[in-house]
Amino acid sequence: MIKPFKAGITGTGSMLPDKKLTNFQLESIVETSDEWIVKRTGIRERRIIDDSMPLAELAAGASNRAIADAGIAADDIDLIIATTITPDYLSPSLACQVQKLIGAGKAAAFDMNAACTGFIYALQISRQFIENGTYKNILIVSAEALSRIVDFTDRRTCVLFGDGAGAVVLGRVDDGTGISSAILGACGEDGSVLTIPCFYATEEDLALRNEGKKQVIWMDGSEVFTFASKIMSESTKNVLDDSGISINDIKYIFPHQANMRILQNAAKRLDVPMDKVYTNLEYTGNISSASVPVCLDEAAKKGLLKKGDKLILVAFGGGLTYGAALLTWSK
Ligand code: UT7
Repeated sequence: MIKPFKAGITGTGSMLPDKKLTNFQLESIVETSDEWIVKRTGIRERRIIDDSMPLAELAAGASNRAIADAGIAADDIDLIIATTITPDYLSPSLACQVQKLIGAGKAAAFDMNAACTGFIYALQISRQFIENGTYKNILIVSAEALSRIVDFTDRRTCVLFGDGAGAVVLGRVDDGTGISSAILGACGEDGSVLTIPCFYATEEDLALRNEGKKQVIWMDGSEVFTFASKIMSESTKNVLDDSGISINDIKYIFPHQANMRILQNAAKRLDVPMDKVYTNLEYTGNISSASVPVCLDEAAKKGLLKKGDKLILVAFGGGLTYGAALLTWSK
């Protein structure tokens, strides 16, 4: 089918909270050590949102930066998709809150949850609207306040996560650039290895949590680790095969930032050097769906991306979900 337009990223933005939580500070909260966390995860510190700050404010900050970077006005946005597992409210959605804060009065708005893979899912959904000409400018904002749902008595999870927001504007781009291939997937049958109950939880689920705490992250870390190491390389290979190009044609891989060892395993399976794998988890920890767009914005602002560069965006997460996209930089 001939698609009238190409969809690509025309602007990026991000915002991290000011407050840092270092590994050394965590040593006084749970029985852990900087040495263990660095060796097993690569994380040194993460950012934590103030109790008084709504996530919507952080998301709006990242969104305003992306819109300015795209050289458009908030009024030009046709659709806002917010990806999050930690919205301030289930209703109004984070997307509607962002719409109000940034003044994008003409936009439709909804939230989407594919856990840490949310940004890749939102990219693939948005791409359809741009390619078929329905919309001109779509704001994707991925924002998380994971510190609000972390159990700070569970050392197996509380050292991993942080807070932050990343946003992109997706719009019409030149031929030969933009998104050329994307794959999405899910393994719902394995969903019980990473859970965050909302209004209901099974007895089995509750029994796994310290003091039966309900609204916190619980994870079987090693199961997720095994899934992640495999699916990151498989998803990357699938989008490359789909486009008929080789990993050697790729300038950078932007992976979900969960654990440095997962990224090293994936790089090894793909036979790519780690200097092609963009990482920032050392200073952000795992910020779920915000990881990939925050990395993209950082790399763009550092001047690392040039028009025509081929990039892989790849993520996995709760659900379990996974996805990858091949993007040729348009700016
Ligand atoms: O965004 C997607 C979601 N998450 C992920 O992608 C996470 C995937 N999984 C991981 O990153 C790793 O599995 C973890 C970092 C969570 C854990 O690393 P691991 O090397 O798989 O450790 P482990 O769970 O096998 O635990 C090894 C030991 C255990 O002690 P024993 O039973 O051997 O005495 C743990 O109790 O390390 C202990 N441990 C810790 N020790 C100090 C677990 N967490 C900590 C900690 N500090 N924070």
